[in-house]
Amino acid sequence: MNQSEFKKRRKQLMQRIGIGNIALISSAGVRVRNRDVDYPFRQDSDFYYLTGFNEPDALAVFIPGRSQGEYILFCREFDEKKALWEGAHAGLEGAIKHYAADDSFPIDDIDDIVSGMLENKTKVFYPMGRDTDLDHSLQEWIRHIRSQSRSGVMAPAELASIEPIVHEMRLFKSAAELKLMRYAAQISAEAHVKAMQLCVAGKYEYQVEADIVHHFMQSGLRNVAYPSIVAGGKNACTLHYTENSDKLKNGDLLLIDAGAECDHYAADITRTFPVSGKFSEPQALLYQLVLDAQFAAIEQIKPNVPWNAAHDASVEVLTKGLVKLGLLKGTVSKLIKNEKYKQFYMHRIGHWLGMDVHDVGDYKIHQEWRLLQAGMVLTVEPGLYIPEDCKSVDKKWRGIGIRIEDDVLVTKNGYEILTHEVPKTITEIETLMAEAKSGC
Ligand code: GLY
Ligand code: MN
Ligand code: MN
Repeated sequence: MNQSEFKKRRKQLMQRIGIGNIALISSAGVRVRNRDVDYPFRQDSDFYYLTGFNEPDALAVFIPGRSQGEYILFCREFDEKKALWEGAHAGLEGAIKHYAADDSFPIDDIDDIVSGMLENKTKVFYPMGRDTDLDHSLQEWIRHIRSQSRSGVMAPAELASIEPIVHEMRLFKSAAELKLMRYAAQISAEAHVKAMQLCVAGKYEYQVEADIVHHFMQSGLRNVAYPSIVAGGKNACTLHYTENSDKLKNGDLLLIDAGAECDHYAADITRTFPVSGKFSEPQALLYQLVLDAQFAAIEQIKPNVPWNAAHDASVEVLTKGLVKLGLLKGTVSKLIKNEKYKQFYMHRIGHWLGMDVHDVGDYKIHQEWRLLQAGMVLTVEPGLYIPEDCKSVDKKWRGIGIRIEDDVLVTKNGYEILTHEVPKTITEIETLMAEAKSGC
């Protein structure tokens, strides 16, 4: 992503903070996996959104109107020995030269310097309660300023969360962000197609995961957006199944929920298909129902429609269908009112999508579902999950889990499906898998 994009965001942030106030945001830290081994580093999304700086041990400070520069970056000093072991890092000069900071200081000096920056500011914006070290340091800095009040300095009087400001900005995707999201979506879609083509009974779920991740990496996308769910048969009824350790069996469905990350932007796709390449009759009936619910939900998506409309549409289609197939008994309106569908459809239709797979942004404003607007991206992912031990339904339905998930951009006039390249009708899936098996 171009530096000018980050600059634009910082300018917007400065306007929202206002002269006389200050904002602080810390980077993610490195987490230990075991002894000398760390988990792969993933930058905090808010921090990256504003800085483009991909190192731990950093703090960004924003002071609108500061004459020596409004954007200050505290980071690790360049250290040759560290560079030898851990690779390049920007250092203080790099922070200014490559990341457009107006000023940079060693992270080890924050206590002395930030405390001075907080003097005589009215309000401090920061990620309240997210980083216990920063929470603690802020209290100490303010205590220190208060202790000097007789010399005339004033400590900030108000602390506020920076998140509502940054998260509202992140909810609306720019052209540059959409370019990354489209690429993540396209590569993830291709990976799902590959998984369908390479699917065969006897393979382990984690080997299907390997096919998917192989395609991500071969396409230049190093990271997954979240741990892939590869769930054969009844495993699909566990919503966040990530063990991926069972063998695939003919006669079972396979649910795959997997997406790549492209420069910190996520894709999130689910497809469900038969291991054998051919749906059984009960599988096909339930699958078609979920697909109809997804189509109905997607049709709701356009500006000025409440966030919840897509969910309501999916509930209506699923409940009607479940009654028709005999899995629910009663009148549709009562079953909906009493939320009886929740035993088979227990999650909501989707979530915002962006730098985080479950992205930031409010769903309600003043207790009302917010209206969709152009530039928002969300997932649409209805599902049905019939537990194996569900005695209230005929045996033929038990142990079937189905979810179909696409990533949808709200446009000026309606929607665009970013993940449209993965087949999802029964005919399309069966044709694709038959062609793969026959070597066409
Ligand atoms: N992959 C997590 C979700 O679909 O929400
Ligand atoms: Mn999702
Ligand atoms: Mn998903």
